[in-house]
Amino acid sequence: MFQTDLLKDKVILVTGGGTGLGKSMATRFSELGAKIIICSRKMDVLQKTAEEINQKTGNEVFPFQLDVRKPDEIEKMIELLDQKYGKIDVLLNNAAGNFISPTERLSYKAFDTVVDIVLRGTYYFSLAMGKYWIAKKTPGNILSIVTTYASTGSGYVVPSAISKAGVLNLTRSLAAEWGKYGIRLNAIAPGPFPTKGAWERLFPDPKFAEKLINRIPLKRTGEHIELANLATYLISDASAYITGDVITIDGGEWLAGAGEFNFLDVVKPEEWDFIEKTMKR
Ligand code: HXC
Ligand code: NAP
Repeated sequence: MFQTDLLKDKVILVTGGGTGLGKSMATRFSELGAKIIICSRKMDVLQKTAEEINQKTGNEVFPFQLDVRKPDEIEKMIELLDQKYGKIDVLLNNAAGNFISPTERLSYKAFDTVVDIVLRGTYYFSLAMGKYWIAKKTPGNILSIVTTYASTGSGYVVPSAISKAGVLNLTRSLAAEWGKYGIRLNAIAPGPFPTKGAWERLFPDPKFAEKLINRIPLKRTGEHIELANLATYLISDASAYITGDVITIDGGEWLAGAGEFNFLDVVKPEEWDFIEKTMKR
């Protein structure tokens, strides 16, 4: 759906780009001509992914080891990338930590761990990149991967929910404040997209995954390429007038859960005949 050189020579930084959705988005951007930097804690994973993407697309993928909870490591990386490429065009905030648990079972440290990765990590990265672009007087583009429960809230993933809500608010707030510098910020709220990282921590019991499909109107989980194409649009110049927004890609899942009468899906046609007749009478 895109011209093959849509992202030619764009320098794109993907946090958590060694696995899952980050890897899929990095691969798509690389196919479309971008120079990619993937960063996270596990260098062996990053190196393997970088080689795999490079072999597939022929374009440069640079792995960098860091922890998004450490602003000094983020600043060091930005300095190095500026020396190497002379610019950074896009930041994709994708790294996250999450697991299901009744909230009352969480230790303070468990709560902090998720908030530190998801919320603190995202604002450290966004602040460092904003300062960089503002000082250089160049435009910038930040895309953050949130979730549908960033807006609705959700039990059993409370540290993640409050953090993603914070990231969404950060997106809206900074879009208003930094538009004058030519910096855009948007977010994507995905529903369920199977990845090893998410499935091991959120759907450890196959029963959970079965329940999940049933409540999605389109009766399937998302394909990585569908998310990657949406992300491509939002980081490309094709979406130059969109800022401060969030786009949901979830097969209708959250609306189906929210609508008062959506539970009537279970009523069969013959039951409707009876209901209609009785009601009219
Ligand atoms: C209760 C837990 C726990 C669990 C860890 N902890 N897992 N508590 N239930 N399942 C507690 C630990 O006991 C410890 O607290 C504290 O959390 C820190 O744990 P560490 O293992 O030391 O943390 P760390 O090594 O920093 O690892 C962070 C992590 C881990 C978040 C716990 O899972 C991780 O590295 N995740 C990264 C990848 C990931 O989560 N991907 C999924 C994203 S999916 P105490 O007090 O005992 O010391 C996603 C999708 C959302 O966000 C929407 C889907 C539809
Ligand atoms: P994933 O493969 O587990 O990805 C998470 C990535 O974050 C990993 O590559 C991990 O790499 C990195 N990371 C974690 N802690 C880090 C830290 N402290 N510093 C640097 N990097 C760190 O899971 P995923 O499903 O692809 O999730 C990707 C994004 O999509 C997340 O933001 C998630 O919330 C969001 N999302 C996913 C779904 C879904 O259904 N999959 C739905 C909605 C939203 P290291 O371990 O090497 O650090």
